[in-house]
Amino acid sequence: MYDFRGSDSASRVAWSIPLGRRQSARSEQPFGDAEFFSRQELRRSQGRIMYLGVKIRPPHPEPELPEPPVQDALGRALRDLRISVTDRCNFRCPYCMPAEVYGEGYRFLAKPELLTFEEIERLARLFLELGAEKIRITGGEPLLRKELPDLVARLAALPGLRDLTLTTNGYLLARQARALAEAGLQRVTVSLDSHDEATFQRMSGRQFSPARVLAGIAAAHDAGLRPIKINCVVQRGVNDEQVVDLARHFQGSGHILRFIEFMDVGTLNAWDLSQVVSAREIVDRIDAELPLEAAEPNYPGEVARRWRYRDGSGEIGVIASVSQPFCADCSRARLTIEGQLVTCLFAEGGVDLRTPLREGADDAALCERIRAVWVQRSDRYSEKRAETARAGGETARAAPQRIEMYQVGG
Ligand code: GTP
Ligand code: 5AD
Ligand code: SF4
Ligand code: SF4
Repeated sequence: MYDFRGSDSASRVAWSIPLGRRQSARSEQPFGDAEFFSRQELRRSQGRIMYLGVKIRPPHPEPELPEPPVQDALGRALRDLRISVTDRCNFRCPYCMPAEVYGEGYRFLAKPELLTFEEIERLARLFLELGAEKIRITGGEPLLRKELPDLVARLAALPGLRDLTLTTNGYLLARQARALAEAGLQRVTVSLDSHDEATFQRMSGRQFSPARVLAGIAAAHDAGLRPIKINCVVQRGVNDEQVVDLARHFQGSGHILRFIEFMDVGTLNAWDLSQVVSAREIVDRIDAELPLEAAEPNYPGEVARRWRYRDGSGEIGVIASVSQPFCADCSRARLTIEGQLVTCLFAEGGVDLRTPLREGADDAALCERIRAVWVQRSDRYSEKRAETARAGGETARAAPQRIEMYQVGG
């Protein structure tokens, strides 16, 4: 087993020493052909010893060591890290943060309880060491977190990161898009359930105009945060009659509109199966007016199924987490703003990383804690829900305790 000790990001040098061999590596100091390592090289270099960025030729061949990424109990790698940067939101979507519950008197977390940017950066670096390649910044609403471009810049500089993106409701995006892009954000996903004013207000729980979100999308496009994905949760009887209109609105824009089946996340949205419009039905409704054809996934384990317009005017996606769950490929770890590591959207809770972090745990100990959680992970909630439904069982939520969607940002 490897103990990833640390790195000097300024010189992009990394080092790693197998557990239990640190002392002998130090005392032998067999600095043969000294060479500096990048983090990517470190990943490929399992089985050698490195010390302070200097490759040390081992006296004897090293045993084969497992390659990162670390795998869970069902053989799923840890590839994606979703980091919540605030528990606050300026919307009150009834299916996520109903205004009756999250009113004036609601006590959100106090500043000392939130992970600092230094803490987030450090944990993110360790997740990358364990194999993550993609980071999504989420909330609540992440654009409410002060100085967010500073965090983006810190994350963008981490070695091994392939994709850095953010999910936002778009309300504050117009004024922040450029700074985020300049800090190193690669793209954004914007939630927009409707472009019709009344439906938008109903689904966002605020008397705001969707025009402001559309302006945010335009600003993100101009700032180069592309391709922009637009996520629309479809709820029967609320916005399902508008899916074709919304598709038409974004057709030819270059943005990728994705429809999400309404899920039973959290404990507050009084979900039941009758409110879910299946991905099949959504595709059929759009295809009837704007002909579609299936497209291949962009990458293995892609959550959205892609469909492109037959006339070449772009593509849409559907996220069928209820009707066609994708747990088998689920490579997502979630970090809450309190520093809890959550292994499933439907988890009852998480594992505390903030306490050891603040009590002075070194990188090795933190890495080991994350690894230990991941190797035991066997979550497959959505698949189990589908199995229960097929067997004719009760699919409505029963769990009294569950992470809320806004704590993990989707
Ligand atoms: P890309 O990197 O752009 O492909 O994004 P993504 O589709 O992986 O992530 P995004 O946050 O845009 O996911 C869209 C929505 O799909 C989320 O808001 C959730 O509603 C749902 N979703 C994402 N990941 C999971 C998951 O692991 N489980 C379930 N059940 N739903 C998920
Ligand atoms: N079902 C499906 N998607 C949801 N989201 C929030 N709650 C639900 C739900 N119950 C989506 C938001 C946003 C993302 C963060 O998660 O609309 O796009
Ligand atoms: Fe805010 Fe997103 Fe939750 Fe709506 S779904 S309340 S925008 S965190
Ligand atoms: Fe992953 Fe849990 Fe969603 Fe399944 S239900 S895809 S395990 S987050």
